[in-house]
Amino acid sequence: MSDQAQQLRQLISNQADPAAIQTRVIAVTSGKGGVGKSNFTLNFALQLRTRGFKVLVFDADNGFANIDVLMGLTPKFNLYHLLKRQKTIHEIIHTGYQELDFIAGGSGFRELAFWTEADAQYFSDQVMQLNGKYHFVLFDLGAGLSKESLKFIISAHETVLVTTPEPTSITDAYAIIKMVQSMKHDVEFHLVVNRSGDDFEGKYTADKITLVAKQFLKMEIPILGYLPEDPNVQKAVKKQVPFAVAFPNTAAAKQMGRIADQYIRTVVSVPEKEHMNSGMKGFLNRMIRLIQNPS
Ligand SMILES: Nc1ncnc2c1ncn2[C@@H]1O[C@H](COP(=O)(O)OP(=O)(O)O)[C@@H](O)[C@H]1O
Ligand SMILES: [Mg+2]
Repeated sequence: MSDQAQQLRQLISNQADPAAIQTRVIAVTSGKGGVGKSNFTLNFALQLRTRGFKVLVFDADNGFANIDVLMGLTPKFNLYHLLKRQKTIHEIIHTGYQELDFIAGGSGFRELAFWTEADAQYFSDQVMQLNGKYHFVLFDLGAGLSKESLKFIISAHETVLVTTPEPTSITDAYAIIKMVQSMKHDVEFHLVVNRSGDDFEGKYTADKITLVAKQFLKMEIPILGYLPEDPNVQKAVKKQVPFAVAFPNTAAAKQMGRIADQYIRTVVSVPEKEHMNSGMKGFLNRMIRLIQNPS
């Protein structure tokens, strides 16, 4: 696997300037709330960190931001201060466990919905400064399809959709895929089933979604993996330490490692030309276009 991680680091590095990384943007979302998105985002990011990648977690959950709470860290400055233009992006980046960088969410994020083009340009200029600094930037989004999270889902290089085996979570996850597809946006979803009783239940849940997506929407949705129901996840949340750090050998942490490996394999298999065209610039260009031409 370290070979594959190495291969991926090379792929997403700029060919003309090997020192410059083409940052990949991953959005994490779900249909239903409370399915484990934030825990997934944080611990997945930590698994990428331990594989040698530079990672930033960006808490963009509109109204329910809590990445900082999961780490027991309360930064003074957050996204709110960036959107209010009181702080630069570098001033709101903090470092957590295993030197994972993160931007805490702020209540001001709600205002994204009322963005003017000038606001969008400012945000874009600030976020562009992250290009090359990170291999991966992960956006932890809110549940459901708000106008704001839709912009991130459409603009990101890929979107991880988290569901649990509960029927309500499955139907809501499918609803997200269907809504995005009905808007004719080309989004690359990856599916994660969280809180599954065992791998069989995880696979059964994922198959339900991917089969229906294939049959009715003609969409291929790769499955990233299944995370078990694990009492140590709740214990870690109460301790305010990410479970991958507090309980590195617990079932959920080990499985998260396999999910990170699977993700790396998937990205490595993407044609090189796609990597070349991407980076933070690709992400921001898509976002600016959406803000200029809302449909
Ligand atoms: N794999 C798991 N095993 C056990 N409990 C879990 C698991 N994943 C999440 N949880 C529980 O679900 C709660 C909500 O998770 P969270 O990541 O905050 O969800 P979201 O971001 O989707 O709202 C956690 O605080 C934890 O108690
Ligand atoms: Mg959350």
